[in-house]
Amino acid sequence: MPESGTGVLILAAGKGTRMKSETPKVLLSLLDEPLLYYPMKSTDSPPFSSRAVVVGHGSGAVAEYLEKAWPGTDVVIQKEQLGTGHAVAVARDWIARFEHVLVIPGDVPLISKETFSMMHSRHVEGGEDCSFLVFEPTDPTGYGRVLDTDRGFRIVEEKDAMEHEKKCGRVNGGIYAFRTSVLLEQLDGIGRNNAQGEYYLTDIIHNLCSCENKVRMIMCSDPEEIEGVNDTVQLDRVSRILRRRILAGHMENGVKCVDSESVWVGPGVNIGEDVMLEPFVQVWGTSVIGRGSRLGSFSIVRNCLIGENVHLLGHVVIHDSAVMENARIGPFAFIRDGSEIMAGAFVGKFVEIKKSTIGEGSKVPHLAYIGDATVGIGTNIGAGTITCNFDGEKKNPTFIGDRCFVGSNTMLVAPVSIGDESYIAAGSVITKDVPSGSLAIGRARQKNIDGWVRRRKKPEEGGE
Ligand code: UD1
Ligand code: CA
Repeated sequence: MPESGTGVLILAAGKGTRMKSETPKVLLSLLDEPLLYYPMKSTDSPPFSSRAVVVGHGSGAVAEYLEKAWPGTDVVIQKEQLGTGHAVAVARDWIARFEHVLVIPGDVPLISKETFSMMHSRHVEGGEDCSFLVFEPTDPTGYGRVLDTDRGFRIVEEKDAMEHEKKCGRVNGGIYAFRTSVLLEQLDGIGRNNAQGEYYLTDIIHNLCSCENKVRMIMCSDPEEIEGVNDTVQLDRVSRILRRRILAGHMENGVKCVDSESVWVGPGVNIGEDVMLEPFVQVWGTSVIGRGSRLGSFSIVRNCLIGENVHLLGHVVIHDSAVMENARIGPFAFIRDGSEIMAGAFVGKFVEIKKSTIGEGSKVPHLAYIGDATVGIGTNIGAGTITCNFDGEKKNPTFIGDRCFVGSNTMLVAPVSIGDESYIAAGSVITKDVPSGSLAIGRARQKNIDGWVRRRKKPEEGGE
């Protein structure tokens, strides 16, 4: 008995020779996510149920990505890449679990969830045995042409096409929905007698038509959607199209850009209303930007939670961290690895914060390194302060309480703890815990030597 729902089979075993990269094609980055992220994302909800990815070239790395980012996805190994027909054939047992299966390539990232759903519902409601997506690009070179014959459609690949066949502008998108029973019957019937010596999945279309199965061609109205990524120039094209689409979506929701041409936002980012993105801002990963915030020029935000009305003043690089409402950061700050900047705090110029919490309203205004530290509420950290967190072997923690004043150029040799409302004199090297409410001075005492300069001079220079 087949499982309910439609299975999705993603073909991703190909080498992607034309990308000229060691990385398998489907793991190459498109707006900071692997290419494979896109078909996974657009098929992650009903009517689609289980998904399997056919992997081959770089299969270990692709399987590792899937396990991390899309747990529950089945992986089918295609050891030798003998063509798209062969790739589907190796997944035969998996396909057999479903009544219908959607077969899609891993290198066509712009197809939307809506297009997949539309195609699926027309296929199922129309009682089709096979439906396939076609489009008319401005330049059909490289795609399989969809020809009309006496016995239905026939798809001819660029490399096999005669000159007059190449004139056909209607091309195969490489996206199919099949009634599983019909697909399985046909898989053995395809040969490899063609220019590339490969088993072409596309041959099935003509075979099905010849056997009087119900085959439906669906025209995709937006040719941009089916743009494939086969070389680096196409990757750049697709990247620009996607960037523009993502940004248009955010702008409709009230996000403002000074210059949308220079702003880059990844597909998994969430941005609240009335956020201002200044020129040359990049926001990636799972970042969430709260309402009313402003991201200054050249800031790079990756996997961060940015609260409401936060101001990044520019050149702020921040990843895997959280910044709460009304905080101000930068310019020129680097914040990383699970740091938390609490409400109303200020992290200023040339400051690095690693794995640390800066409490509400606290300030680290200039030139500091705060690592593995917890800073309380309303504390001021002077310029040049450094948490000496690394002893050559391991990282050690620093605790600084509420309403403290840490003077400029203080070295806090961790592990060390500074109690609430303490003062630390500028230039101190603090190696011992400081009790609450006290003043710590850890520096050589200053000595002034009277008349020293005069005594140093030779008699002819006016000395003694
Ligand atoms: C394919 C279609 C072509 C269509 C185009 C649309 C065939 C024969 N041709 O051509 O009609 O116009 O897509 O983009 O299907 N793959 C495997 N194993 C293999 C071979 C390929 O998993 O042995 C995967 C690739 O990783 C890729 C997808 O199948 O994700 C498509 O293969 P590709 O070689 O890119 O086919 P195209 O030449 O683009
Ligand atoms: Ca392709």
